[in-house]
Amino acid sequence: MPLSPADQAKSAASARALQLVEDGMTLGLGTGSTAGWFVRLLSERMKRERIHVTGVATSSATVWLAQELGVPLKKLEDVGHIDMTVDGADEFDSHLNLIKGGGAALLQEKIVAASSARMVVIADESKRVARLGAFPLPIEIVRFGWSSTRRAVAELLNGMDVDGREITVRTGSAGPLVTDEGHYIFDLHLGRIGDPPALAAALNAIPGVVESGLFIDMAAAVVIGHADGTTEVIERPVAPGTPVDQVELMRNRDA
Ligand code: 5RP
Repeated sequence: MPLSPADQAKSAASARALQLVEDGMTLGLGTGSTAGWFVRLLSERMKRERIHVTGVATSSATVWLAQELGVPLKKLEDVGHIDMTVDGADEFDSHLNLIKGGGAALLQEKIVAASSARMVVIADESKRVARLGAFPLPIEIVRFGWSSTRRAVAELLNGMDVDGREITVRTGSAGPLVTDEGHYIFDLHLGRIGDPPALAAALNAIPGVVESGLFIDMAAAVVIGHADGTTEVIERPVAPGTPVDQVELMRNRDA
């Protein structure tokens, strides 16, 4: 059966990122449908080329997928070093700052990415935005006292440069969704985030907020896949904080 345009794009981005993988690497394996494509293509390449790679999963869902596909895994605490993490994103901007956590895995994803020499994001064109914030920003919250934490987040948002301020508690099949780490997720419906680094720092300063889905200055590159199978690679400029559209980019379109 032919792939949908969205799957074609995700698979193209994943195949391109797979070219960065070398025999013997330890890889952080992201979570979500795009990251799932990467894990599937990685498994196929490992079998075809008989290369050995060790994965570090960023969620229980990715553990199950990797195990099903025969990709060997180690826990983060059992690896000394991660060469590269390949993960999806819900949004990325021209600074390569990200919103992540649509799959409720942002905490493990951030810890694994922060432990990696390089984070490579794989995405389709729909994830590229001029300003972060149309996608509701997930934040991971300790369950103890969560309604107090919600009030503190609401007060914080009143003083922040955002367009919307609604906070929803993410639900699963039986009430509030509980993450792999035993926390709740709040989704912040902000519309537009004027200053992502300032918001990320302010959220992290609230007791009860474990982490936000804002990944600031973490992605080294974004590989964008298109429905026609072509890809584009945007690498982080050397000076952190410089918009990528103001510097020479490594842009690469291939068939
Ligand atoms: C999970 C994530 C995902 O990477 C993000 O939600 C993108 O998912 P998809 O590739 O399915 O669009 O952050 O927590």
